[in-house]
Amino acid sequence: MSDLAMDTRLARAGGAKRAVNLVTRAWFVAAALGHGVFLVYILAVFFPPIATEGLDGLRGMHLPAGFREGEFLGNLAAASHVLLAAIIIGGGPLQLVPAIRSRFPAFHRWLGRSYLVAAVLSALAGLYMVWTRGTVGGLVGHLGITLDGVLILVFAAFALRYALARRIREHRRWALRLFMAASAVWFFRVGLMGWVMLTGGAGVDFETFTGPFLTVLGFAQYLLPLAMLEWYFRCQARPSARGQWLYVVTLGVLTAYMCVGIFAAAMGLWLPRL
Ligand code: HEM
Repeated sequence: MSDLAMDTRLARAGGAKRAVNLVTRAWFVAAALGHGVFLVYILAVFFPPIATEGLDGLRGMHLPAGFREGEFLGNLAAASHVLLAAIIIGGGPLQLVPAIRSRFPAFHRWLGRSYLVAAVLSALAGLYMVWTRGTVGGLVGHLGITLDGVLILVFAAFALRYALARRIREHRRWALRLFMAASAVWFFRVGLMGWVMLTGGAGVDFETFTGPFLTVLGFAQYLLPLAMLEWYFRCQARPSARGQWLYVVTLGVLTAYMCVGIFAAAMGLWLPRL
């Protein structure tokens, strides 16, 4: 190969790598801002009533599986579930910022432990709620979120194992997988509201909260982010310019859709309840 051809190839590969980093960063900034709006909603809607009235604070909330008279354990699960969500939704994006990891390692470790415990307890509480009192969405919806709960437990176990073994590369990978699974409920809301805004809610029966779109979204809420993450790992490990550009276009389109969804969820679900 001539020097010129070699130089052109290297320049192309460099451009593709830069584009991968740029689109991934853009995705992260949008996702972090969207998590921020969801966090504000969680802090404003769930914390004040539960802080002042305890489990009775769940009464009258918009949660169909929220408060049940005389069901102490179920109500405790529901209250802890929505309170722990603040650590998961607020802490997840912070854990992924490299500058925080390198400049404040003690904070990273402390938040990481809290995040891990919160994700495990919240998943267990969620599983308990779904299978003892149910929620909206029918059996397929229940199975979709159940698999998410199981993945959270598995990913948390691997992230912890590799952190304790000081195998940081593997720890980082499992922690990123945990982030995608633990934020699935956020992806669900954003995915649904973006769809409603763009199509008016095709394939969604709002009476029963079932339908083909919800069936797909029930699993895509974590399988799609997890698949994109694996693709990102691959782009870094075995870069080919064509594969990298395909990743850039795919993540670019998904990020644009995610931004529509964040706007729609903020305006339609979260900000009106503040
Ligand atoms: C660990 C990450 C999770 C977070 C951050 C989270 C967050 C939340 C939040 C904020 C709510 C309140 C609903 C709203 O106002 O939008 C909620 C409700 C709920 N979540 Fe989760 N969740 C998680 C995982 C799960 C899992 C794995 C399950 C089940 C296996 C689950 C089951 C439920 C149920 C049953 C409700 C009540 C819905 C109702 O009242 O019908 N969650 N969750």
